[in-house]
Amino acid sequence: MNIRLVDPKTSARHPEVLGVGVFEDQPRTAVSALPAAVRARVQEALSSGKCKGSSGEVFAVFVPGSGPECVFLIGLGKRETLKLERVRLAAARLRSQAAACKYAALRLDLESVRGALPMADVIGAAVEGLRMSAYRFDKYKTSGKDRKPSGPSEAELGLRSPGAGERRALAEAEILAETVNWTRDFANEPANVLTPVRLAAVARRMASEERLSCRVLGRAECLKLGMGGIIGVSQGSSYPPQLIVLEYKPKGVKDQRPVVLVGKGVTFDTGGISLKPGPGMEWMKYDMCGAAAVIGALRAIARLKLPVPVVGLAPVVENMPGSKAQRPGDIIRCMNGKTVEVLNTDAEGRLILADALCYAERYKPRHLIDIATLTGACSVTFGDAASAVMSSDPELTARLKKAGEHTGERLWEMPLYEEYKELIRATHADIQNISKKNVGIMTAGLFLREFSGHAGSWAHLDIAGTGFADGDRPLGPKGVTGMGVRLFTRFVRDLAAER
Ligand code: BES
Ligand code: MN
Ligand code: ZN
Repeated sequence: MNIRLVDPKTSARHPEVLGVGVFEDQPRTAVSALPAAVRARVQEALSSGKCKGSSGEVFAVFVPGSGPECVFLIGLGKRETLKLERVRLAAARLRSQAAACKYAALRLDLESVRGALPMADVIGAAVEGLRMSAYRFDKYKTSGKDRKPSGPSEAELGLRSPGAGERRALAEAEILAETVNWTRDFANEPANVLTPVRLAAVARRMASEERLSCRVLGRAECLKLGMGGIIGVSQGSSYPPQLIVLEYKPKGVKDQRPVVLVGKGVTFDTGGISLKPGPGMEWMKYDMCGAAAVIGALRAIARLKLPVPVVGLAPVVENMPGSKAQRPGDIIRCMNGKTVEVLNTDAEGRLILADALCYAERYKPRHLIDIATLTGACSVTFGDAASAVMSSDPELTARLKKAGEHTGERLWEMPLYEEYKELIRATHADIQNISKKNVGIMTAGLFLREFSGHAGSWAHLDIAGTGFADGDRPLGPKGVTGMGVRLFTRFVRDLAAER
């Protein structure tokens, strides 16, 4: 799909399909440059009250023959409360409708939202909506018939006299949306294909293409560094663990402490000896979504040449049972010397993240942020409506939440009460890897905080409910969502804008 900015006043040609945003509280929309017959039909739909403009509504007006054959009036809800996410969804819906009707070209009229939000942001949201909704993972469908139709090949964003700022917004959003889909592509791979070594290879190849530095620590190096968490979790698998280290150093930026991102990369989580139940276990091929988000974010940040140094760390393992696997009750020692009683081998994410967080210390991070499909409790609590954020730094939380508001990747803060610390105090070691009571989201957060180098600015994102979708969504099909890629990129972009 090609996406272009088009000035409706100067473009002679009409698109087959036109999408126009309609507000609930302002039903009279100026639809620029339409043939009279089409305009009349659109006005009729609006003034008769058949088309209400409520959020999520799509009203189709077909006028065969002249101008656009089909106008989709896309409900945007109330104008004052318009959010970028609604623009994203509107663009996604328009594209899906046009695809269903087998149209090859569409135009989304952005003038209908002018003034409600900054136009550059609107362009970005529209591009994301179009590209993310078009994503498919059908490389393993051997028959073309089983593949979903790819949809329109041409998409225009209708906008009066677009300038340089608008063109830049388009170019940046293209990078971002393409990177989200690139991330989905490798993260959707099943665990027999995407082993820890293969995931590290994805990061390596990306790094050489984007001129990032990439190092991968293998089992021997992890052992030498005393990474008992990574070693312990991976020891039941025939695949060796990998610690991916990506470093982005922008040109001309010196003496700045980096943002360090750490993503959980469990290529498959059987639970280990604390084996998970069979039904639904296949979802655990997505237990590396945190690592995917970090790798994707570094790619986008490097492509956008953001002037902030960023380090990406991803501990990658497979969690398997077997004669070499760690057992419930095992005591391991993490890189910072803290001992952990492994009461449940299925609480493995925090064990590998613990070592990666310790490793992060060498970078003296300005901000240290981890991201993980960490607890089933989080997915039960929020579904896919939000990710949980926990942090030692309220300002960092606020920045992350603001970035998430912008990208539509919502964050909800959970409290790290000191009282909860008691729940992970161990009998025979410093801490244990599961909670004595049902506050699983926060005790996981508290566990990680123990390895975050207390004084600093650390945050933990639990994306158990948002990293992958259990069914098709407007912004992407069942499978990996790419949650975190846009959020981190936005977060870093905002940091850059401040200096
Ligand atoms: N990867 C899972 C968490 C998960 C579950 C993510 C469902 C996405 C969907 C994690 O490793 C896990 O197994 N967590 C356990 C922790 C428990 C043993 C304390 C859980 O949440 O049940
Ligand atoms: Mn687990
Ligand atoms: Zn897991």
